[in-house]
Amino acid sequence: MSQAILRPSTARAAFRAVSHAKPLSTTFVRNKATLPDLPYDYAALEPAISGQIMELHHSKHHNTYVNSFNAAAEKLATAQQLNTPEAIADQIALQPILNFHGGGHINHSLFWENLAPKGKGGGEPPSGELGKAIDSTFGGLENLKKAMNAKLAGIQGSGWAWLVKDNETGGIGIKTYANQDPVVSQFKPLLGIDAWEHAYYLQYQNRKAEYFSAVWDVVNWRVAEKRFG
Ligand SMILES: [Fe+2]
Repeated sequence: MSQAILRPSTARAAFRAVSHAKPLSTTFVRNKATLPDLPYDYAALEPAISGQIMELHHSKHHNTYVNSFNAAAEKLATAQQLNTPEAIADQIALQPILNFHGGGHINHSLFWENLAPKGKGGGEPPSGELGKAIDSTFGGLENLKKAMNAKLAGIQGSGWAWLVKDNETGGIGIKTYANQDPVVSQFKPLLGIDAWEHAYYLQYQNRKAEYFSAVWDVVNWRVAEKRFG
């Protein structure tokens, strides 16, 4: 993920020093998540994705994940100042919301990067080592699209489908994730497609298969190639 997503911010916390009668004030510097700028205009992905969807998706939905993640991270930082059972319970209780909003921030940041307008890389087929891996694993790009679209269509409720690299084998595959669960641990995200209704409904309504078909016209395979390497 690009460093542009993070920027420094300060958070203050007061500690009572063991050997002092008075509270000791200490300033910590923490990186706060921020909404990344898009590398293209909201309407630049039309007709595959409407400008209205892009604007709402980025400026409202993604922004909410960023703000909610930061709020939860502040609570976590506060809870981590103590190691009492209650404070540890508070830290554990924050994990689902950190996963959801942190995942939402990561997933959308990766998603914006792996899209590009037609004529500016969008839809131009993969090449290099990733292109070879797609050919050997799926038998070509069209087969990969069909397989990924079938996985997307099978998502019940909200979630994502990702083309991933297996960090243990070096191979590639398709995985689906529920809600905003991020691609972590064994797998590295190469290319994600957002299957939440907010990603398509204003334009495609119930015809989500049309969205899954059209989105390939604006996939930026150059970014997926870099992530694969
Ligand atoms: Fe989304």
